Amino acid sequence: MNPTRAEISLKRLEDNYNEIRKHLQKAKPNKKIKICAVVKANAYGHGLREISQKLVSLGVDYLGVANYDEAIKLRTHIPKAKILVFGTLIHSKLKPAAYVSKLLKYNLVATVASLSTAKFLDFYSKKLNRKFKVHIKIDTGLKRIGFDVKRAFKNVEQIFNYKNLEIEGIFTHFATSESRDKSFARLQLNKFNELLYNLKKAGMEFPIVHCANSGAILNIKDSYFDMVRPGLILYGYFPSDETKHKINIKPIMNLKSKVTFIKRVDANTSISYGRKYFTDRKVFIGSIPIGYGDGYWRAFSGKGKVFINHKTYPIVGAITMDWLMINLGVQTDVRIGDDVLLMGMENSNYIGADTLAKIAGTIPYEIICAVADRVPRVYLDY
Ligand SMILES: Cc1ncc(COP(=O)(O)O)c(C=O)c1O
Repeated sequence: MNPTRAEISLKRLEDNYNEIRKHLQKAKPNKKIKICAVVKANAYGHGLREISQKLVSLGVDYLGVANYDEAIKLRTHIPKAKILVFGTLIHSKLKPAAYVSKLLKYNLVATVASLSTAKFLDFYSKKLNRKFKVHIKIDTGLKRIGFDVKRAFKNVEQIFNYKNLEIEGIFTHFATSESRDKSFARLQLNKFNELLYNLKKAGMEFPIVHCANSGAILNIKDSYFDMVRPGLILYGYFPSDETKHKINIKPIMNLKSKVTFIKRVDANTSISYGRKYFTDRKVFIGSIPIGYGDGYWRAFSGKGKVFINHKTYPIVGAITMDWLMINLGVQTDVRIGDDVLLMGMENSNYIGADTLAKIAGTIPYEIICAVADRVPRVYLDY
C-alpha cells in the first residue's frame, strides 16, 4: 500500500471547536451564539462526511456548504443537521419543479442573493405547497454575490412579500476581516448594521443574523450577531499572522508518508527534473512517494523541509508528480520505512500549511484544499 496519507485528528477538531465556543462565550457571556461550521470543498480537504459527523456530534448548529451538489451529498451523510447553501441556484440548467422538490426533500436552506432566485423558489414552493427556508445575502463590500447594501432595503421588502419563503436569516461576508487594518471590515459592518436597523424599524426582523468568518471571530467581536461561520480555524490554522495565537488551535491534518528509497550519490550530482540542484558533497538522498499529484506543490521545490524522527531535512531538486527527494546528509540514521511529516504538527514538530503557503506565495486555505483525492484520509480519535 502506498504509505502517503493524510492523518486527521478528530480529537483536535473537537479541541478547536471547543476553543471557538470558549472564545465566543468569553466575548459574549450572556448569549449563546450559534456556530455554522463551514464544510465546503470537502471540509477544506479534510473529508466532508467524517468532519461533518464529528461536528454534529459536538452539537454544531449549522453546516455551511458552497453549492447544492455539496449540500445534497452532505445530506446523504447527515440526515438531520441544518444545512445552509452559501451559493446561488443556477436556474437555467434545471427541471425546476423536480429540482426544487428535491431540495425541499433534502431539507436544505437556500441563500437568496437575487430577486430572481426568490421568485423562482417562491413560485415552485407554492406549486409544491411547501415553504422554502432561506437566508438573504447582502453584499456590503466583497462584491461576490448578494444584494448591494445600497439598494437592499427595497429588495428585502420585496422578498418579504413572497409568502412561500420562510425568511430565517440574513447575512453578509467580509473582505478583510483577518487584517490588522480593520477599516474596511468596520465599514462593511456599519453598512450591515444600518440596513438591519432600517429593516427592523419597518418591521422586518430575522431569527438568525450572521456575518463573522474566522478572521472576524478572532478580530471583530461585535460582528457575531446570532451565529458565526468559522471555516479555517476549525481546521487549525489562522487566516493571517495578525490573528495568530488569539485562540489555542492546532492543525487537524498531518500529511505523512514514508521514506521508500535511499541512495548515496557523489558530489556534484544533479537531483530531479531540470537539474536545478547539485549535491555539494557525497550524501545520502532519500525519496518520498509524494508529489504535486498528491497536492504537495511543486512550488515547495528546494524550499520546503520535512520532519523524520524529529529532525528536519531539506527538499532538494524539483518536486515531481509522485516523488520528492530530500538530502539526508553525509551520514544518516534514517532508514527505509521511517515516517515523514510533510505538513502539520506532531509533538513540537511544526510544518504548517501557513508555513508552506508563504513558500508558495498563497494562503493556507489553498494548501489544505489542494491535498488530492488520491491521498487517503485516515481518521484518528487522538
Ligand atoms: C460565506 C462564507 N462564510 C464563511 C466562510 C468561512 O471562512 P473562513 O474559512 O475564513 O472562516 C466562507 C469561506 O470562505 C464563506 O464563503
